[in-house]
Amino acid sequence: MATTAAARILSLTQRPRRLRRTPALRALVRETRLSPEQFLYPLFVCEGEGVRREIPSMPGVFNLSVDEAVKEAAAARGEGVAGVLLFGLPAHKDAEGSAAWDAQAPVQRATRALVREVPGLLVVTDVCLCEYTSHGHCGLLNGEEILNDPTVELLAKAAVSHAEAGAHIVAPSDMMDGRVGEIRTALDARGFDQTVIMSYAAKYSSAFYGPFRDAAGSTPAFGDRRSHQMDPANVEEALRETALDIDEGADIVMVKPAMAYLDVIARVKAEFGLPTAAYHVSGEYAMLKAAAANGWIDETRAMMECLTSIRRAGADIIITYYAREAARLLA
Ligand code: PBG
Repeated sequence: MATTAAARILSLTQRPRRLRRTPALRALVRETRLSPEQFLYPLFVCEGEGVRREIPSMPGVFNLSVDEAVKEAAAARGEGVAGVLLFGLPAHKDAEGSAAWDAQAPVQRATRALVREVPGLLVVTDVCLCEYTSHGHCGLLNGEEILNDPTVELLAKAAVSHAEAGAHIVAPSDMMDGRVGEIRTALDARGFDQTVIMSYAAKYSSAFYGPFRDAAGSTPAFGDRRSHQMDPANVEEALRETALDIDEGADIVMVKPAMAYLDVIARVKAEFGLPTAAYHVSGEYAMLKAAAANGWIDETRAMMECLTSIRRAGADIIITYYAREAARLLA
């Protein structure tokens, strides 16, 4: 009989469900909050004008010419997003990736335009060679070997050219040894002592970068990135990598990817206490989009659950292709 449901009341001292009963109570005791001020929005900048070309494996993400990138960034800023992270698609690639430090290349031009035209927007630039080399590797090659120290020199040149264009933050994603220190020294020597370095401190060799390599045309022509990006099995090593980058002058440290590495985010944040970023990468985004397109998950809820989990793990900053969608939801 239905009447028995209310009849018996247990005498419990703790009833955790009390605080989950209404939206107002749940909001009152919520431990983790998201704000678009913590989001960085990656943009892929290409040559040309009026170009807005959707990336097939990343619905809602585009290759954008500088003029379109300015519109996209202004819209994102209008929705409260803190800043953009720029990747470049140069017109020409060569063995050393010389477009990486070309003042007229898409990232440098976009940086100047964004700084001028979108007030309050943080402009962050990716520092790596893989988008610029004809072979798609992150550095100079000797045969099939990536040379560390000569590559670091080139990365420092790229970082300086971004700072000259007005970038607020440079973000080396190459995982060469010693690059943060060299970049710091090169920036300081030219008077860019206020340019922030956000280092990809613990960047794993991950299958989840697949769609990005379509977007940036940076798939290596042979081999893979395991000689410099980290083994997904390691976390103690992530702490050593992070400690090195901090010693060399990193202001912000990053863990990448995010969802499969929440333990790494938590350890890095707990151990060092530095502003910590996590990159919710292309494959993580593509999986949600694909499942949602099939009607298999509720995309909005899954997106917010992922972003909240990344924050809960300890990330202060989230780099995500969902920045605008999430910002609109939080408004
Ligand atoms: C390298 C770089 C990559 C990403 C950011 N910077 C690709 C790689 O290491 O192969 C991946 C980002 C993503 O998957 O969203 N410049």
